[in-house]
Amino acid sequence: KTPTCVCLSLWFLQTTMKLLENSSFEALSSRLCVETGESRILGRIESYSCKMAGDDKHMFKQFCQEGEPHVLEALSPPQSTSATSPSQLGKSSEDGENPLSDKCCRKTLFYLITTLNESFRPDYDFSAARAHEFSREPSLNWVANAVNSSLFSAVGEEFNSLGPELWNAIDQEINLQGCDIYSYNPDLDSDPFGEEGSLWSFNYFFYNKKLKRIVFFTCRSVSVLSGYGRGSLDNELDMELDDEEEMDGFTEDSCPRALCV
Ligand SMILES: *[C@@H]1O[C@H](CO)[C@@H](O)[C@H](O)[C@H]1NC(C)=O
Ligand SMILES: *[C@@H]1O[C@H](CO)[C@@H](O)[C@H](O)[C@H]1NC(C)=O
Ligand SMILES: *[C@@H]1O[C@H](CO)[C@@H](O)[C@H](O)[C@H]1NC(C)=O
Repeated sequence: KTPTCVCLSLWFLQTTMKLLENSSFEALSSRLCVETGESRILGRIESYSCKMAGDDKHMFKQFCQEGEPHVLEALSPPQSTSATSPSQLGKSSEDGENPLSDKCCRKTLFYLITTLNESFRPDYDFSAARAHEFSREPSLNWVANAVNSSLFSAVGEEFNSLGPELWNAIDQEINLQGCDIYSYNPDLDSDPFGEEGSLWSFNYFFYNKKLKRIVFFTCRSVSVLSGYGRGSLDNELDMELDDEEEMDGFTEDSCPRALCV
């Protein structure tokens, strides 16, 4: 493929985000994994260090010689704007001119992708995630509001105690005011959360460059019903799908694996 792809894969082999153990995040995460009536909530907050170890640094230098890490990648417009005015979407792609908020340097994109990969390992592989599946969210208030309302709808009254604790813990860990916020909004066809029964999901990255740290907050709601009764009929359907995928030139590895096999 193109040299860019080669660089990407070299980088991926060497860079790992290190999960920082944090007991308050673990406690919060377990409160975010609940079954409420017809849906199951699967939430998780994790803190990752983006500091590079010896090997990574070596790779990073090689990488820099080509001037690659600072190349800007085009992201999708923030969810906040696309939610309020879908017409802006069309406009910005027509004149091919994205505002700066819709870009991030390749290095940051790598951090985001490796964070995803690390967080969902080994169930999902995000090596193939693309820049346009990410957005930079300019408004902390908008993100907090979106998270609040999803969680409130999910856990109800429990949110009254959970909410303040959660935002407090995130702020202490990452200093929200000093963060760039990104979201991951996968394409429908590459969506690891697009499995049958997925009701909604969000994935936010709070990236504090100074602290070299990313707090990753992922949450999704799946229908309880869909998780049960996956019988032989489903297997037959899966086999048919496999055949089609092969004909389309998909390799097995590029397909997200189902969580409940
Ligand atoms: C992502 O994780 C998978 C294992 O789940 C691994 O095979 C792959 O190399 C990883 N890719 C990146 C980009 O880290
Ligand atoms: C989100 O919820 C927290 C905790 O309940 C609250 O402190 C904060 O003001 C809320 N933020 C927004 C934007 O709704
Ligand atoms: C976990 O994060 C909290 C802030 O959320 C911080 O106060 C605490 O020191 C961290 N705990 C550990 C064990 O790192």
